[in-house]
Parts: sequence; C-alpha cells; structure tokens
Amino acid sequence: MEGITLEDLSIGYKRPLISSLSVHMAEGEFWVVVGPNGAGKSTLVKTILGIIPPLSGRILIHGKDCTRRCDERRFLSYVPQMESYSHSFPATALDVVLSGLFPRLGRFERVREKDVERALRWMEELHLKEVADKPFSRLSGGQQRKVLIARALISDPHYIFLDEPTTGVDLRSSRKILELLDRLHKEKGFGICMVTHDINFVWDYVDRIILLGYGGKYFIGNKEEILNEELLSRIYQVQVKIVETEYGPIFLVGDKHF
Ligand SMILES: Nc1ncnc2c1ncn2[C@@H]1O[C@H](COP(=O)(O)OP(=O)(O)OP(=O)(O)O)[C@@H](O)[C@H]1O
Ligand SMILES: [Mg+2]
Repeated sequence: MEGITLEDLSIGYKRPLISSLSVHMAEGEFWVVVGPNGAGKSTLVKTILGIIPPLSGRILIHGKDCTRRCDERRFLSYVPQMESYSHSFPATALDVVLSGLFPRLGRFERVREKDVERALRWMEELHLKEVADKPFSRLSGGQQRKVLIARALISDPHYIFLDEPTTGVDLRSSRKILELLDRLHKEKGFGICMVTHDINFVWDYVDRIILLGYGGKYFIGNKEEILNEELLSRIYQVQVKIVETEYGPIFLVGDKHF
C-alpha cells in the first residue's frame, strides 16, 4: 500500500507520551500535527523518520515494515525544528541545500552542475538566491529555516516532514512557504506532514489533522472535526474563538483559562 501507516504505535522516551496511535497517511495528503508544547509532536515525527525507536507498534512505509531500519525511508525528508547552528560552521547556504542530495548520491558520485542549478532554482523560489554564497551560520533564523526547506525539497521526496517551518519566519515568507508546499502537494503529489503552532496559516491547505494533547490524548480527523472551538479550548486549556472572515476562519485566543 502507498503512503505511511502507523499501527498501534506508542511513542516516547521510556514512558509513552502517546499510546496506540493508528493512522494511515496516504501518498499526496497534507497533514498537520498540532498541540501544546511538550505534547509529543516532534517525538512523533522523529519516530516516523526512524530517529527515535517506537516503544511498541509498527511503522509501514509503502507497505514495507519500517519499524526499525528500511530503505523506504529515503523517500522521506525532514526539516527539523529550529536549532541554533554553530558560528564556526563554514558551509555556505548553497552547500547546505546541496547536502540534501547526499542520501541519493552513490558513494563516489559528486554534485554536478545541474544539481547546483536545481539548488539555485529552489533557492530562488524561496527568495534565497542572494544569500546562496553566504555562510549558513551568518544567515538570519528565518533564512536558515528556508535553506533547510530547500535542502529537504532537492531530494525529490515522496513525503516531507516539517517541524515548525514557519516559526520565526515573517508573514510573507510564511505564506510563501505554505503556498509552495501546497503547489508541490497538488502538482507533484508530495505528501506533507507539518508540525505547527500557526493554525491561522494552515486552513486553506490542509487535508487532515493530528491533535496531540497532554496525558496521551490524541484526535485525528479533517480540519472541521479537529479545529473547532470546543476541542481546541479543551486541549489548550484556554478559550479559543473562531471568527469567520473573508480570508477564512481566524483563531483567536481569549484570556479565560480552564
Ligand atoms: N531526547 C529526549 N529524552 C527524554 N525526553 C525527551 C527527549 N526529547 C523530548 N523529550 C520530552 O518528551 C516530551 C515531548 O517532547 P516533544 O519535543 O516531542 O514535544 P513537542 O510537542 O514537539 O513540543 P514543542 O511544541 O515545544 O516543540 C517533552 O516532555 C520533552 O521534555
Ligand atoms: Mg517540537
């Protein structure tokens, strides 16, 4: 079967954060993972990517058992949550984008001219062309985010996992990132799984939502089922109000705590 299947999956570190999660992420779907800080969103993504082993259950990619190791993981790419990068890190922004090709290159293969052209095209798409030759460590946080997104895209993945790609990114660039992901998803059939706190940005694009709460609670469904006032208020323990506008629904947070 195409896509990614989680079967009765428990994730966490020694003790489970989330237990018995079963979900099928079909090829070409746009998923968003939301939930409060520390609920386990990054842990879920890292477990699917094989960075952290699951506590129990199975992970299938294209129908193959990938609970431990498997080759099918080369079809997944990853934009990690923002980390700080060492100032002595000498690579240029372009080098970092090209490093996305390494898992695909054979042992003695080198980056070719057409790879560089492709990297520059992705950088242009994300308004990064001017910084291509600058050291990655000297870029602003938002520029670094976008470089890491270009790095994930260059390997032609079937599924892209992005952990908070719009955190620290300006409004226009955030919208651009969502539009780019939406276009890739629609034109090239890439599957997308994005962790975000910016729910106001995702409504127009997303198909399916995973909402993780504390105490192992989780909810899976389409956006109307999950992104509603009652459930969001309960999970975030703060009053959430949804206002319909010409731009679609806007999520507001009140000061009434539960
Ligand atoms: N390597 C680790 N070892 C032990 N516990 C960890 C490790 N990484 C994360 N945790 C714990 O697991 C829980 C979930 O962390 P995770 O990073 O998945 O949360 P998150 O939902 O992504 O939160 P945020 O919105 O803040 O990014 C937290 O309580 C965290 O302290
Ligand atoms: Mg996280």
